[in-house]
Amino acid sequence: MSRIYEALQKAESERKATQGSQQTIPNGLRSEAAVAEYEIPVGQRPDLTREREFEVEAPEILSPYAAPALDLNNVPRHTWTPNYTQLPSLQERGPAVEQFRSLRSRIHELRDIHPLKSILVSSGLPQEGKSFVAANLAVSLARHKNSKVLLIDGDMRRYTLHQLLGCQPHPGLADYLAGKAEMIEVMQRAEDAPALGKQGAAILPNLTFIAGGNGGDKAADLSGNPRFGELIRAASPYFDWIIVDSSPVLPVSDAVNLARSCDGVLLVARGGVTKFPVAQRAQSELKASNILGFVLNAIEQAPQVGTYYGYDAEKEE
Ligand SMILES: Nc1ncnc2c1ncn2[C@@H]1O[C@H](COP(=O)(O)OP(=O)(O)OP(=O)(O)O)[C@@H](O)[C@H]1O
Ligand SMILES: [Mg+2]
Repeated sequence: MSRIYEALQKAESERKATQGSQQTIPNGLRSEAAVAEYEIPVGQRPDLTREREFEVEAPEILSPYAAPALDLNNVPRHTWTPNYTQLPSLQERGPAVEQFRSLRSRIHELRDIHPLKSILVSSGLPQEGKSFVAANLAVSLARHKNSKVLLIDGDMRRYTLHQLLGCQPHPGLADYLAGKAEMIEVMQRAEDAPALGKQGAAILPNLTFIAGGNGGDKAADLSGNPRFGELIRAASPYFDWIIVDSSPVLPVSDAVNLARSCDGVLLVARGGVTKFPVAQRAQSELKASNILGFVLNAIEQAPQVGTYYGYDAEKEE
């Protein structure tokens, strides 16, 4: 007989034994009151003679959030005119392609150790290269084995990713978090356009983008909205990677809020600019999250794997 069953049976017999009496039990509570607290409302009380059925009946597990199904073919398509200078990883070859490919390999290695899909990119202060790294990493991931990548502009105060991709910033994350739009309505993909060139035409179809959106002065409050976690959970089954750009972590807490829903955090430090204590404080602000490591961005003498061997950096595909 199960312990739950025994407890229910004991409670039932105690209830019957104390009915009509007002006995005081040692802790000072009237036994009637004590049993009442324990009682299952009439109508839901199990039939104790049907022990077997009661034991095997599994309770229905209700998910607190039922994610809507997503068909990427239904995501709205818009004209994108990417900025190839700010998105060097879109190019066919070159040092940036090589560096982002190295970063991508490290991230793949980390995924071999722990589950990793959603990565927030942040840094201590403004202008250290968060958006540059987030967008180029997303492109680099999207050109590897046809991976499906979702890039989210989580900097709802100063969103810039739409400028790199050359598309509209609205509607976007802020509209979704405010409950003004559904997930699919704030997503966008590049429409097939010959203007994208051979390389862009091959890579951008794997990229889905959520821009910053209309946050206005509500941006700070929106970052703490539980709908962000719901978005990540709902989108996860449809993408290989989710990359989230964010605000600097020292002046405002938005990135710390968003990081709670992501599997890992990548911190950016800008070569010759970011001071060590700033990097340390950024790391400390995000200590509750899984910090994957630092990206040292914009250093003068980036190691170039290809040229080291006397060749140009290898062509990606
Ligand atoms: N490795 C790089 N090589 C060349 N330019 C870069 C590099 N990294 C960043 N930049 C340039 O520096 C400027 C700031 O970069 P970015 O916007 O990515 O910083 P940010 O940390 O996102 O800033 P903010 O906190 O204001 O959002 C941009 O003009 C960007 O193109
Ligand atoms: Mg930025």
